[in-house]
Amino acid sequence: MNWENLIINLECIDNLPTLPTVFTKVTELINKPNVTARQIAEVIETDQAISMKLLKIVNSPFFGFSRKILTVQDAVVLLGFNATRNTVTSISIFNTMNTSSDEELFDMTEFWKHSIGTGMVARFLARKVHIDPENAFVAGIIHDIGKIILQQYFKDELTKVIKLMKEKNKSFFEAELEVYRGTHCDLGCYLADKWNLPFPLVEVIDLHHTPGEASEDPKLVSVIHIANSVTKGLGLGFTGWSKEQELDPYAFARLDIVAADLEGWLDEIQDEIDGAEEVFNLIK
Ligand SMILES: [Fe+2]
Ligand SMILES: [Fe+2]
Repeated sequence: MNWENLIINLECIDNLPTLPTVFTKVTELINKPNVTARQIAEVIETDQAISMKLLKIVNSPFFGFSRKILTVQDAVVLLGFNATRNTVTSISIFNTMNTSSDEELFDMTEFWKHSIGTGMVARFLARKVHIDPENAFVAGIIHDIGKIILQQYFKDELTKVIKLMKEKNKSFFEAELEVYRGTHCDLGCYLADKWNLPFPLVEVIDLHHTPGEASEDPKLVSVIHIANSVTKGLGLGFTGWSKEQELDPYAFARLDIVAADLEGWLDEIQDEIDGAEEVFNLIK
């Protein structure tokens, strides 16, 4: 199937995954002027599963608060509105997209470890280059979301992609282009549009393999481009059959860093990646 047929098929799927209403409501509310932490907490509390996960995460070393946080409202106050929205987004997307998979073809656990690892490395890099670390975390979590569409609805194409990667030592991205003339970036974008995700996140999904094309938030896209590669390079997610993509020099230039900076941070980055397993257990 080529890209045109694939997109026609995708448009015919009427049960595409949707995000929980609490995600939409929190996003809408946070954009309103004069909104209070109490109002945001009330909306989050309508979804018990998300509330519980939020409390579990804010009480974990991931956020490192010194006292125990018992209520959603306290969590919202301590995190701030932006980090609250991002955490709810991460939990919602994980809950919606952590579906069962054909383990032989696509290991869902490895996929999420890679995504969370990328989020954590991105959060670390974001602090170094002075962009919002919580935005970078959520962007890392969702950057490869299109791969789930491929594994859920287009198994034949995914099988061909993996075969080509193994036989011809191609990256996932290169193999996809050869097999169906599209990529997981395009598929992820389609879904992100349907979900009305904010444009910087859509752009990350679209351009994390081609950061030089970014226009809205090139720094965020560059951070995810590097975090994705570093996470793979350090052995988290799909390492068995995935050739690493070469890092785009544009991403370094855009962030005003050099490869030696990255090497100097490797120990700290490794700590982030080691923590990904724990965050995976918190969020699942
Ligand atoms: Fe990707
Ligand atoms: Fe990735």
